[in-house]
Amino acid sequence: MKKNILIAMLFLSISNVYAGDADTGAELYHEVELERTIRGEQYTDANCETCHEASFYLREDRKVTTFAKLEAMVEGCNTNLDVGWFPEDVSDVAAYLNREYYKFDQ
Ligand code: HEC
Repeated sequence: MKKNILIAMLFLSISNVYAGDADTGAELYHEVELERTIRGEQYTDANCETCHEASFYLREDRKVTTFAKLEAMVEGCNTNLDVGWFPEDVSDVAAYLNREYYKFDQ
């Protein structure tokens, strides 16, 4: 019996690893500076909105339909662009974008 409770607690703590902090995410999101060529132009201070302004997150045919997908998209851009955010950072940024735009239940 006790063992089952322990296992249940373990699962709870694993599934609850990190919920993401929207305030930290806001800082990360706004302070990121990428060195990159975008649409033929060389930037040293590109950020997320160099490619998609805020309204992109609200467009009708957006691909993101759940919080998990939102996190996956942030992770996708993080990886593709070599942003260098850790998984916790990605969760924070997803939490921020969710608070501002997507408003999914988490
Ligand atoms: C070089 C251009 C570029 C930059 C810079 C960029 N993205 Fe993206 N992002 C894209 C493209 C292209 C897509 C669409 C991918 C698709 O449709 O499969 C996308 C999609 C997304 C989406 C999903 C939007 C939706 O609702 O459909 C999110 C969220 C996102 N990016 C977050 C970020 C964040 C956070 C950053 C800053 C680190 C960032 N992106 C920087 C190109 C970029």
